[in-house]
Amino acid sequence: MRNVQAPHGLGGQNGRVPHPDQPISRRAARAAVAAPRARGAWKSKVPLRVRWTAFAIAFWAVAAIFAVSAFSLSGARGPGGAASVATSNAAAAAVALPGGADATAAPATGLPVPAQTGAAARCDDPAVVAALAAGKDEDVVTAFGGGAAFRGAVVDGVAPCVDLGDPHRLWVVVDKKRPLNPLDVEPSELVAPADMQRTVDGRLQPTAAEALTALVAAAAQEGVGAIGLNSAYRSFASQTRTYNGYVNSLGRDAADQQSARPGFSEHQTGLATDVAACDSGCGAIESFGGTRQGAWVAANAWRFGYIVRYESGYTDITGYEAEPWHLRYVGPELAKAYHDGGFHTLEDFFGLPAAPGY
Ligand code: DAL
Ligand code: ZN
Repeated sequence: MRNVQAPHGLGGQNGRVPHPDQPISRRAARAAVAAPRARGAWKSKVPLRVRWTAFAIAFWAVAAIFAVSAFSLSGARGPGGAASVATSNAAAAAVALPGGADATAAPATGLPVPAQTGAAARCDDPAVVAALAAGKDEDVVTAFGGGAAFRGAVVDGVAPCVDLGDPHRLWVVVDKKRPLNPLDVEPSELVAPADMQRTVDGRLQPTAAEALTALVAAAAQEGVGAIGLNSAYRSFASQTRTYNGYVNSLGRDAADQQSARPGFSEHQTGLATDVAACDSGCGAIESFGGTRQGAWVAANAWRFGYIVRYESGYTDITGYEAEPWHLRYVGPELAKAYHDGGFHTLEDFFGLPAAPGY
């Protein structure tokens, strides 16, 4: 059991309270308790020594109450045990301290501590700091305690080191309200995913490329057929051409439902790819949703760190009509949390506003 100090105002530090080892006679104690309360009268009848003794008894009684209170708030807290459930949330919550210390003990006063999730301290966690500095985004998520914990910290607003607008991070969210910054940003590294058919020369960030190779291999292995890459990274200039093509053929309003304006496309991050079913030659991306491959991707992409970014029925949030072919890499941990949590948009996943228009 830890030490319990007398709270301020009850003596113990200034020498005015008798030492606890000083003997106290029962007679003196009874005299103190039974003494008349009339101001002044009792003082003349009760010797000074007895008055001091009574005060000492009262002091140690109060100190004992504080000790029991403090112990009940902190000492009986086992990992997930009934005692911790019974304790009030405020007292049981871990307290985030500067430097990442996790003070799970209640203060000696026994007073409730403010309720906090403890997630704020993760940004000071050495593993988080190191992974962020090294650009190992998946390790950052792991250091937060996994995808669900990472998401929770972001949504709770207690992860200031996680910038959802950083175009070089796995967790970047790009939509009509969240342009890339800078608008013409380019990924630091791009590679062509191995071992798949392709209709254009697509490249992705290396981890996303590896994951797509694994996804395509698994689809073939699990008997759903070949999946090919249609269009992956698109530069600002390339997205300009793509978007203008839609505008020229459909008009601006319809184009905005299907194609992102330059500087607003996930394709520019190197983390998004359009895929096609390639049974006898690769089909159009627009028919992907009706294929076996499309159904398999919708159910299994998360296993490889991908999510289907624009699902049917969520245009009011994403700003785009359904694109079952458009996969966005977020890494296995976030994709699992997204899948397990039943999410359908990144906006909802990270607690961001809907982005139906610019
Ligand atoms: N088709 C998607 C929205 C894009 O252009 O990024
Ligand atoms: Zn796309």
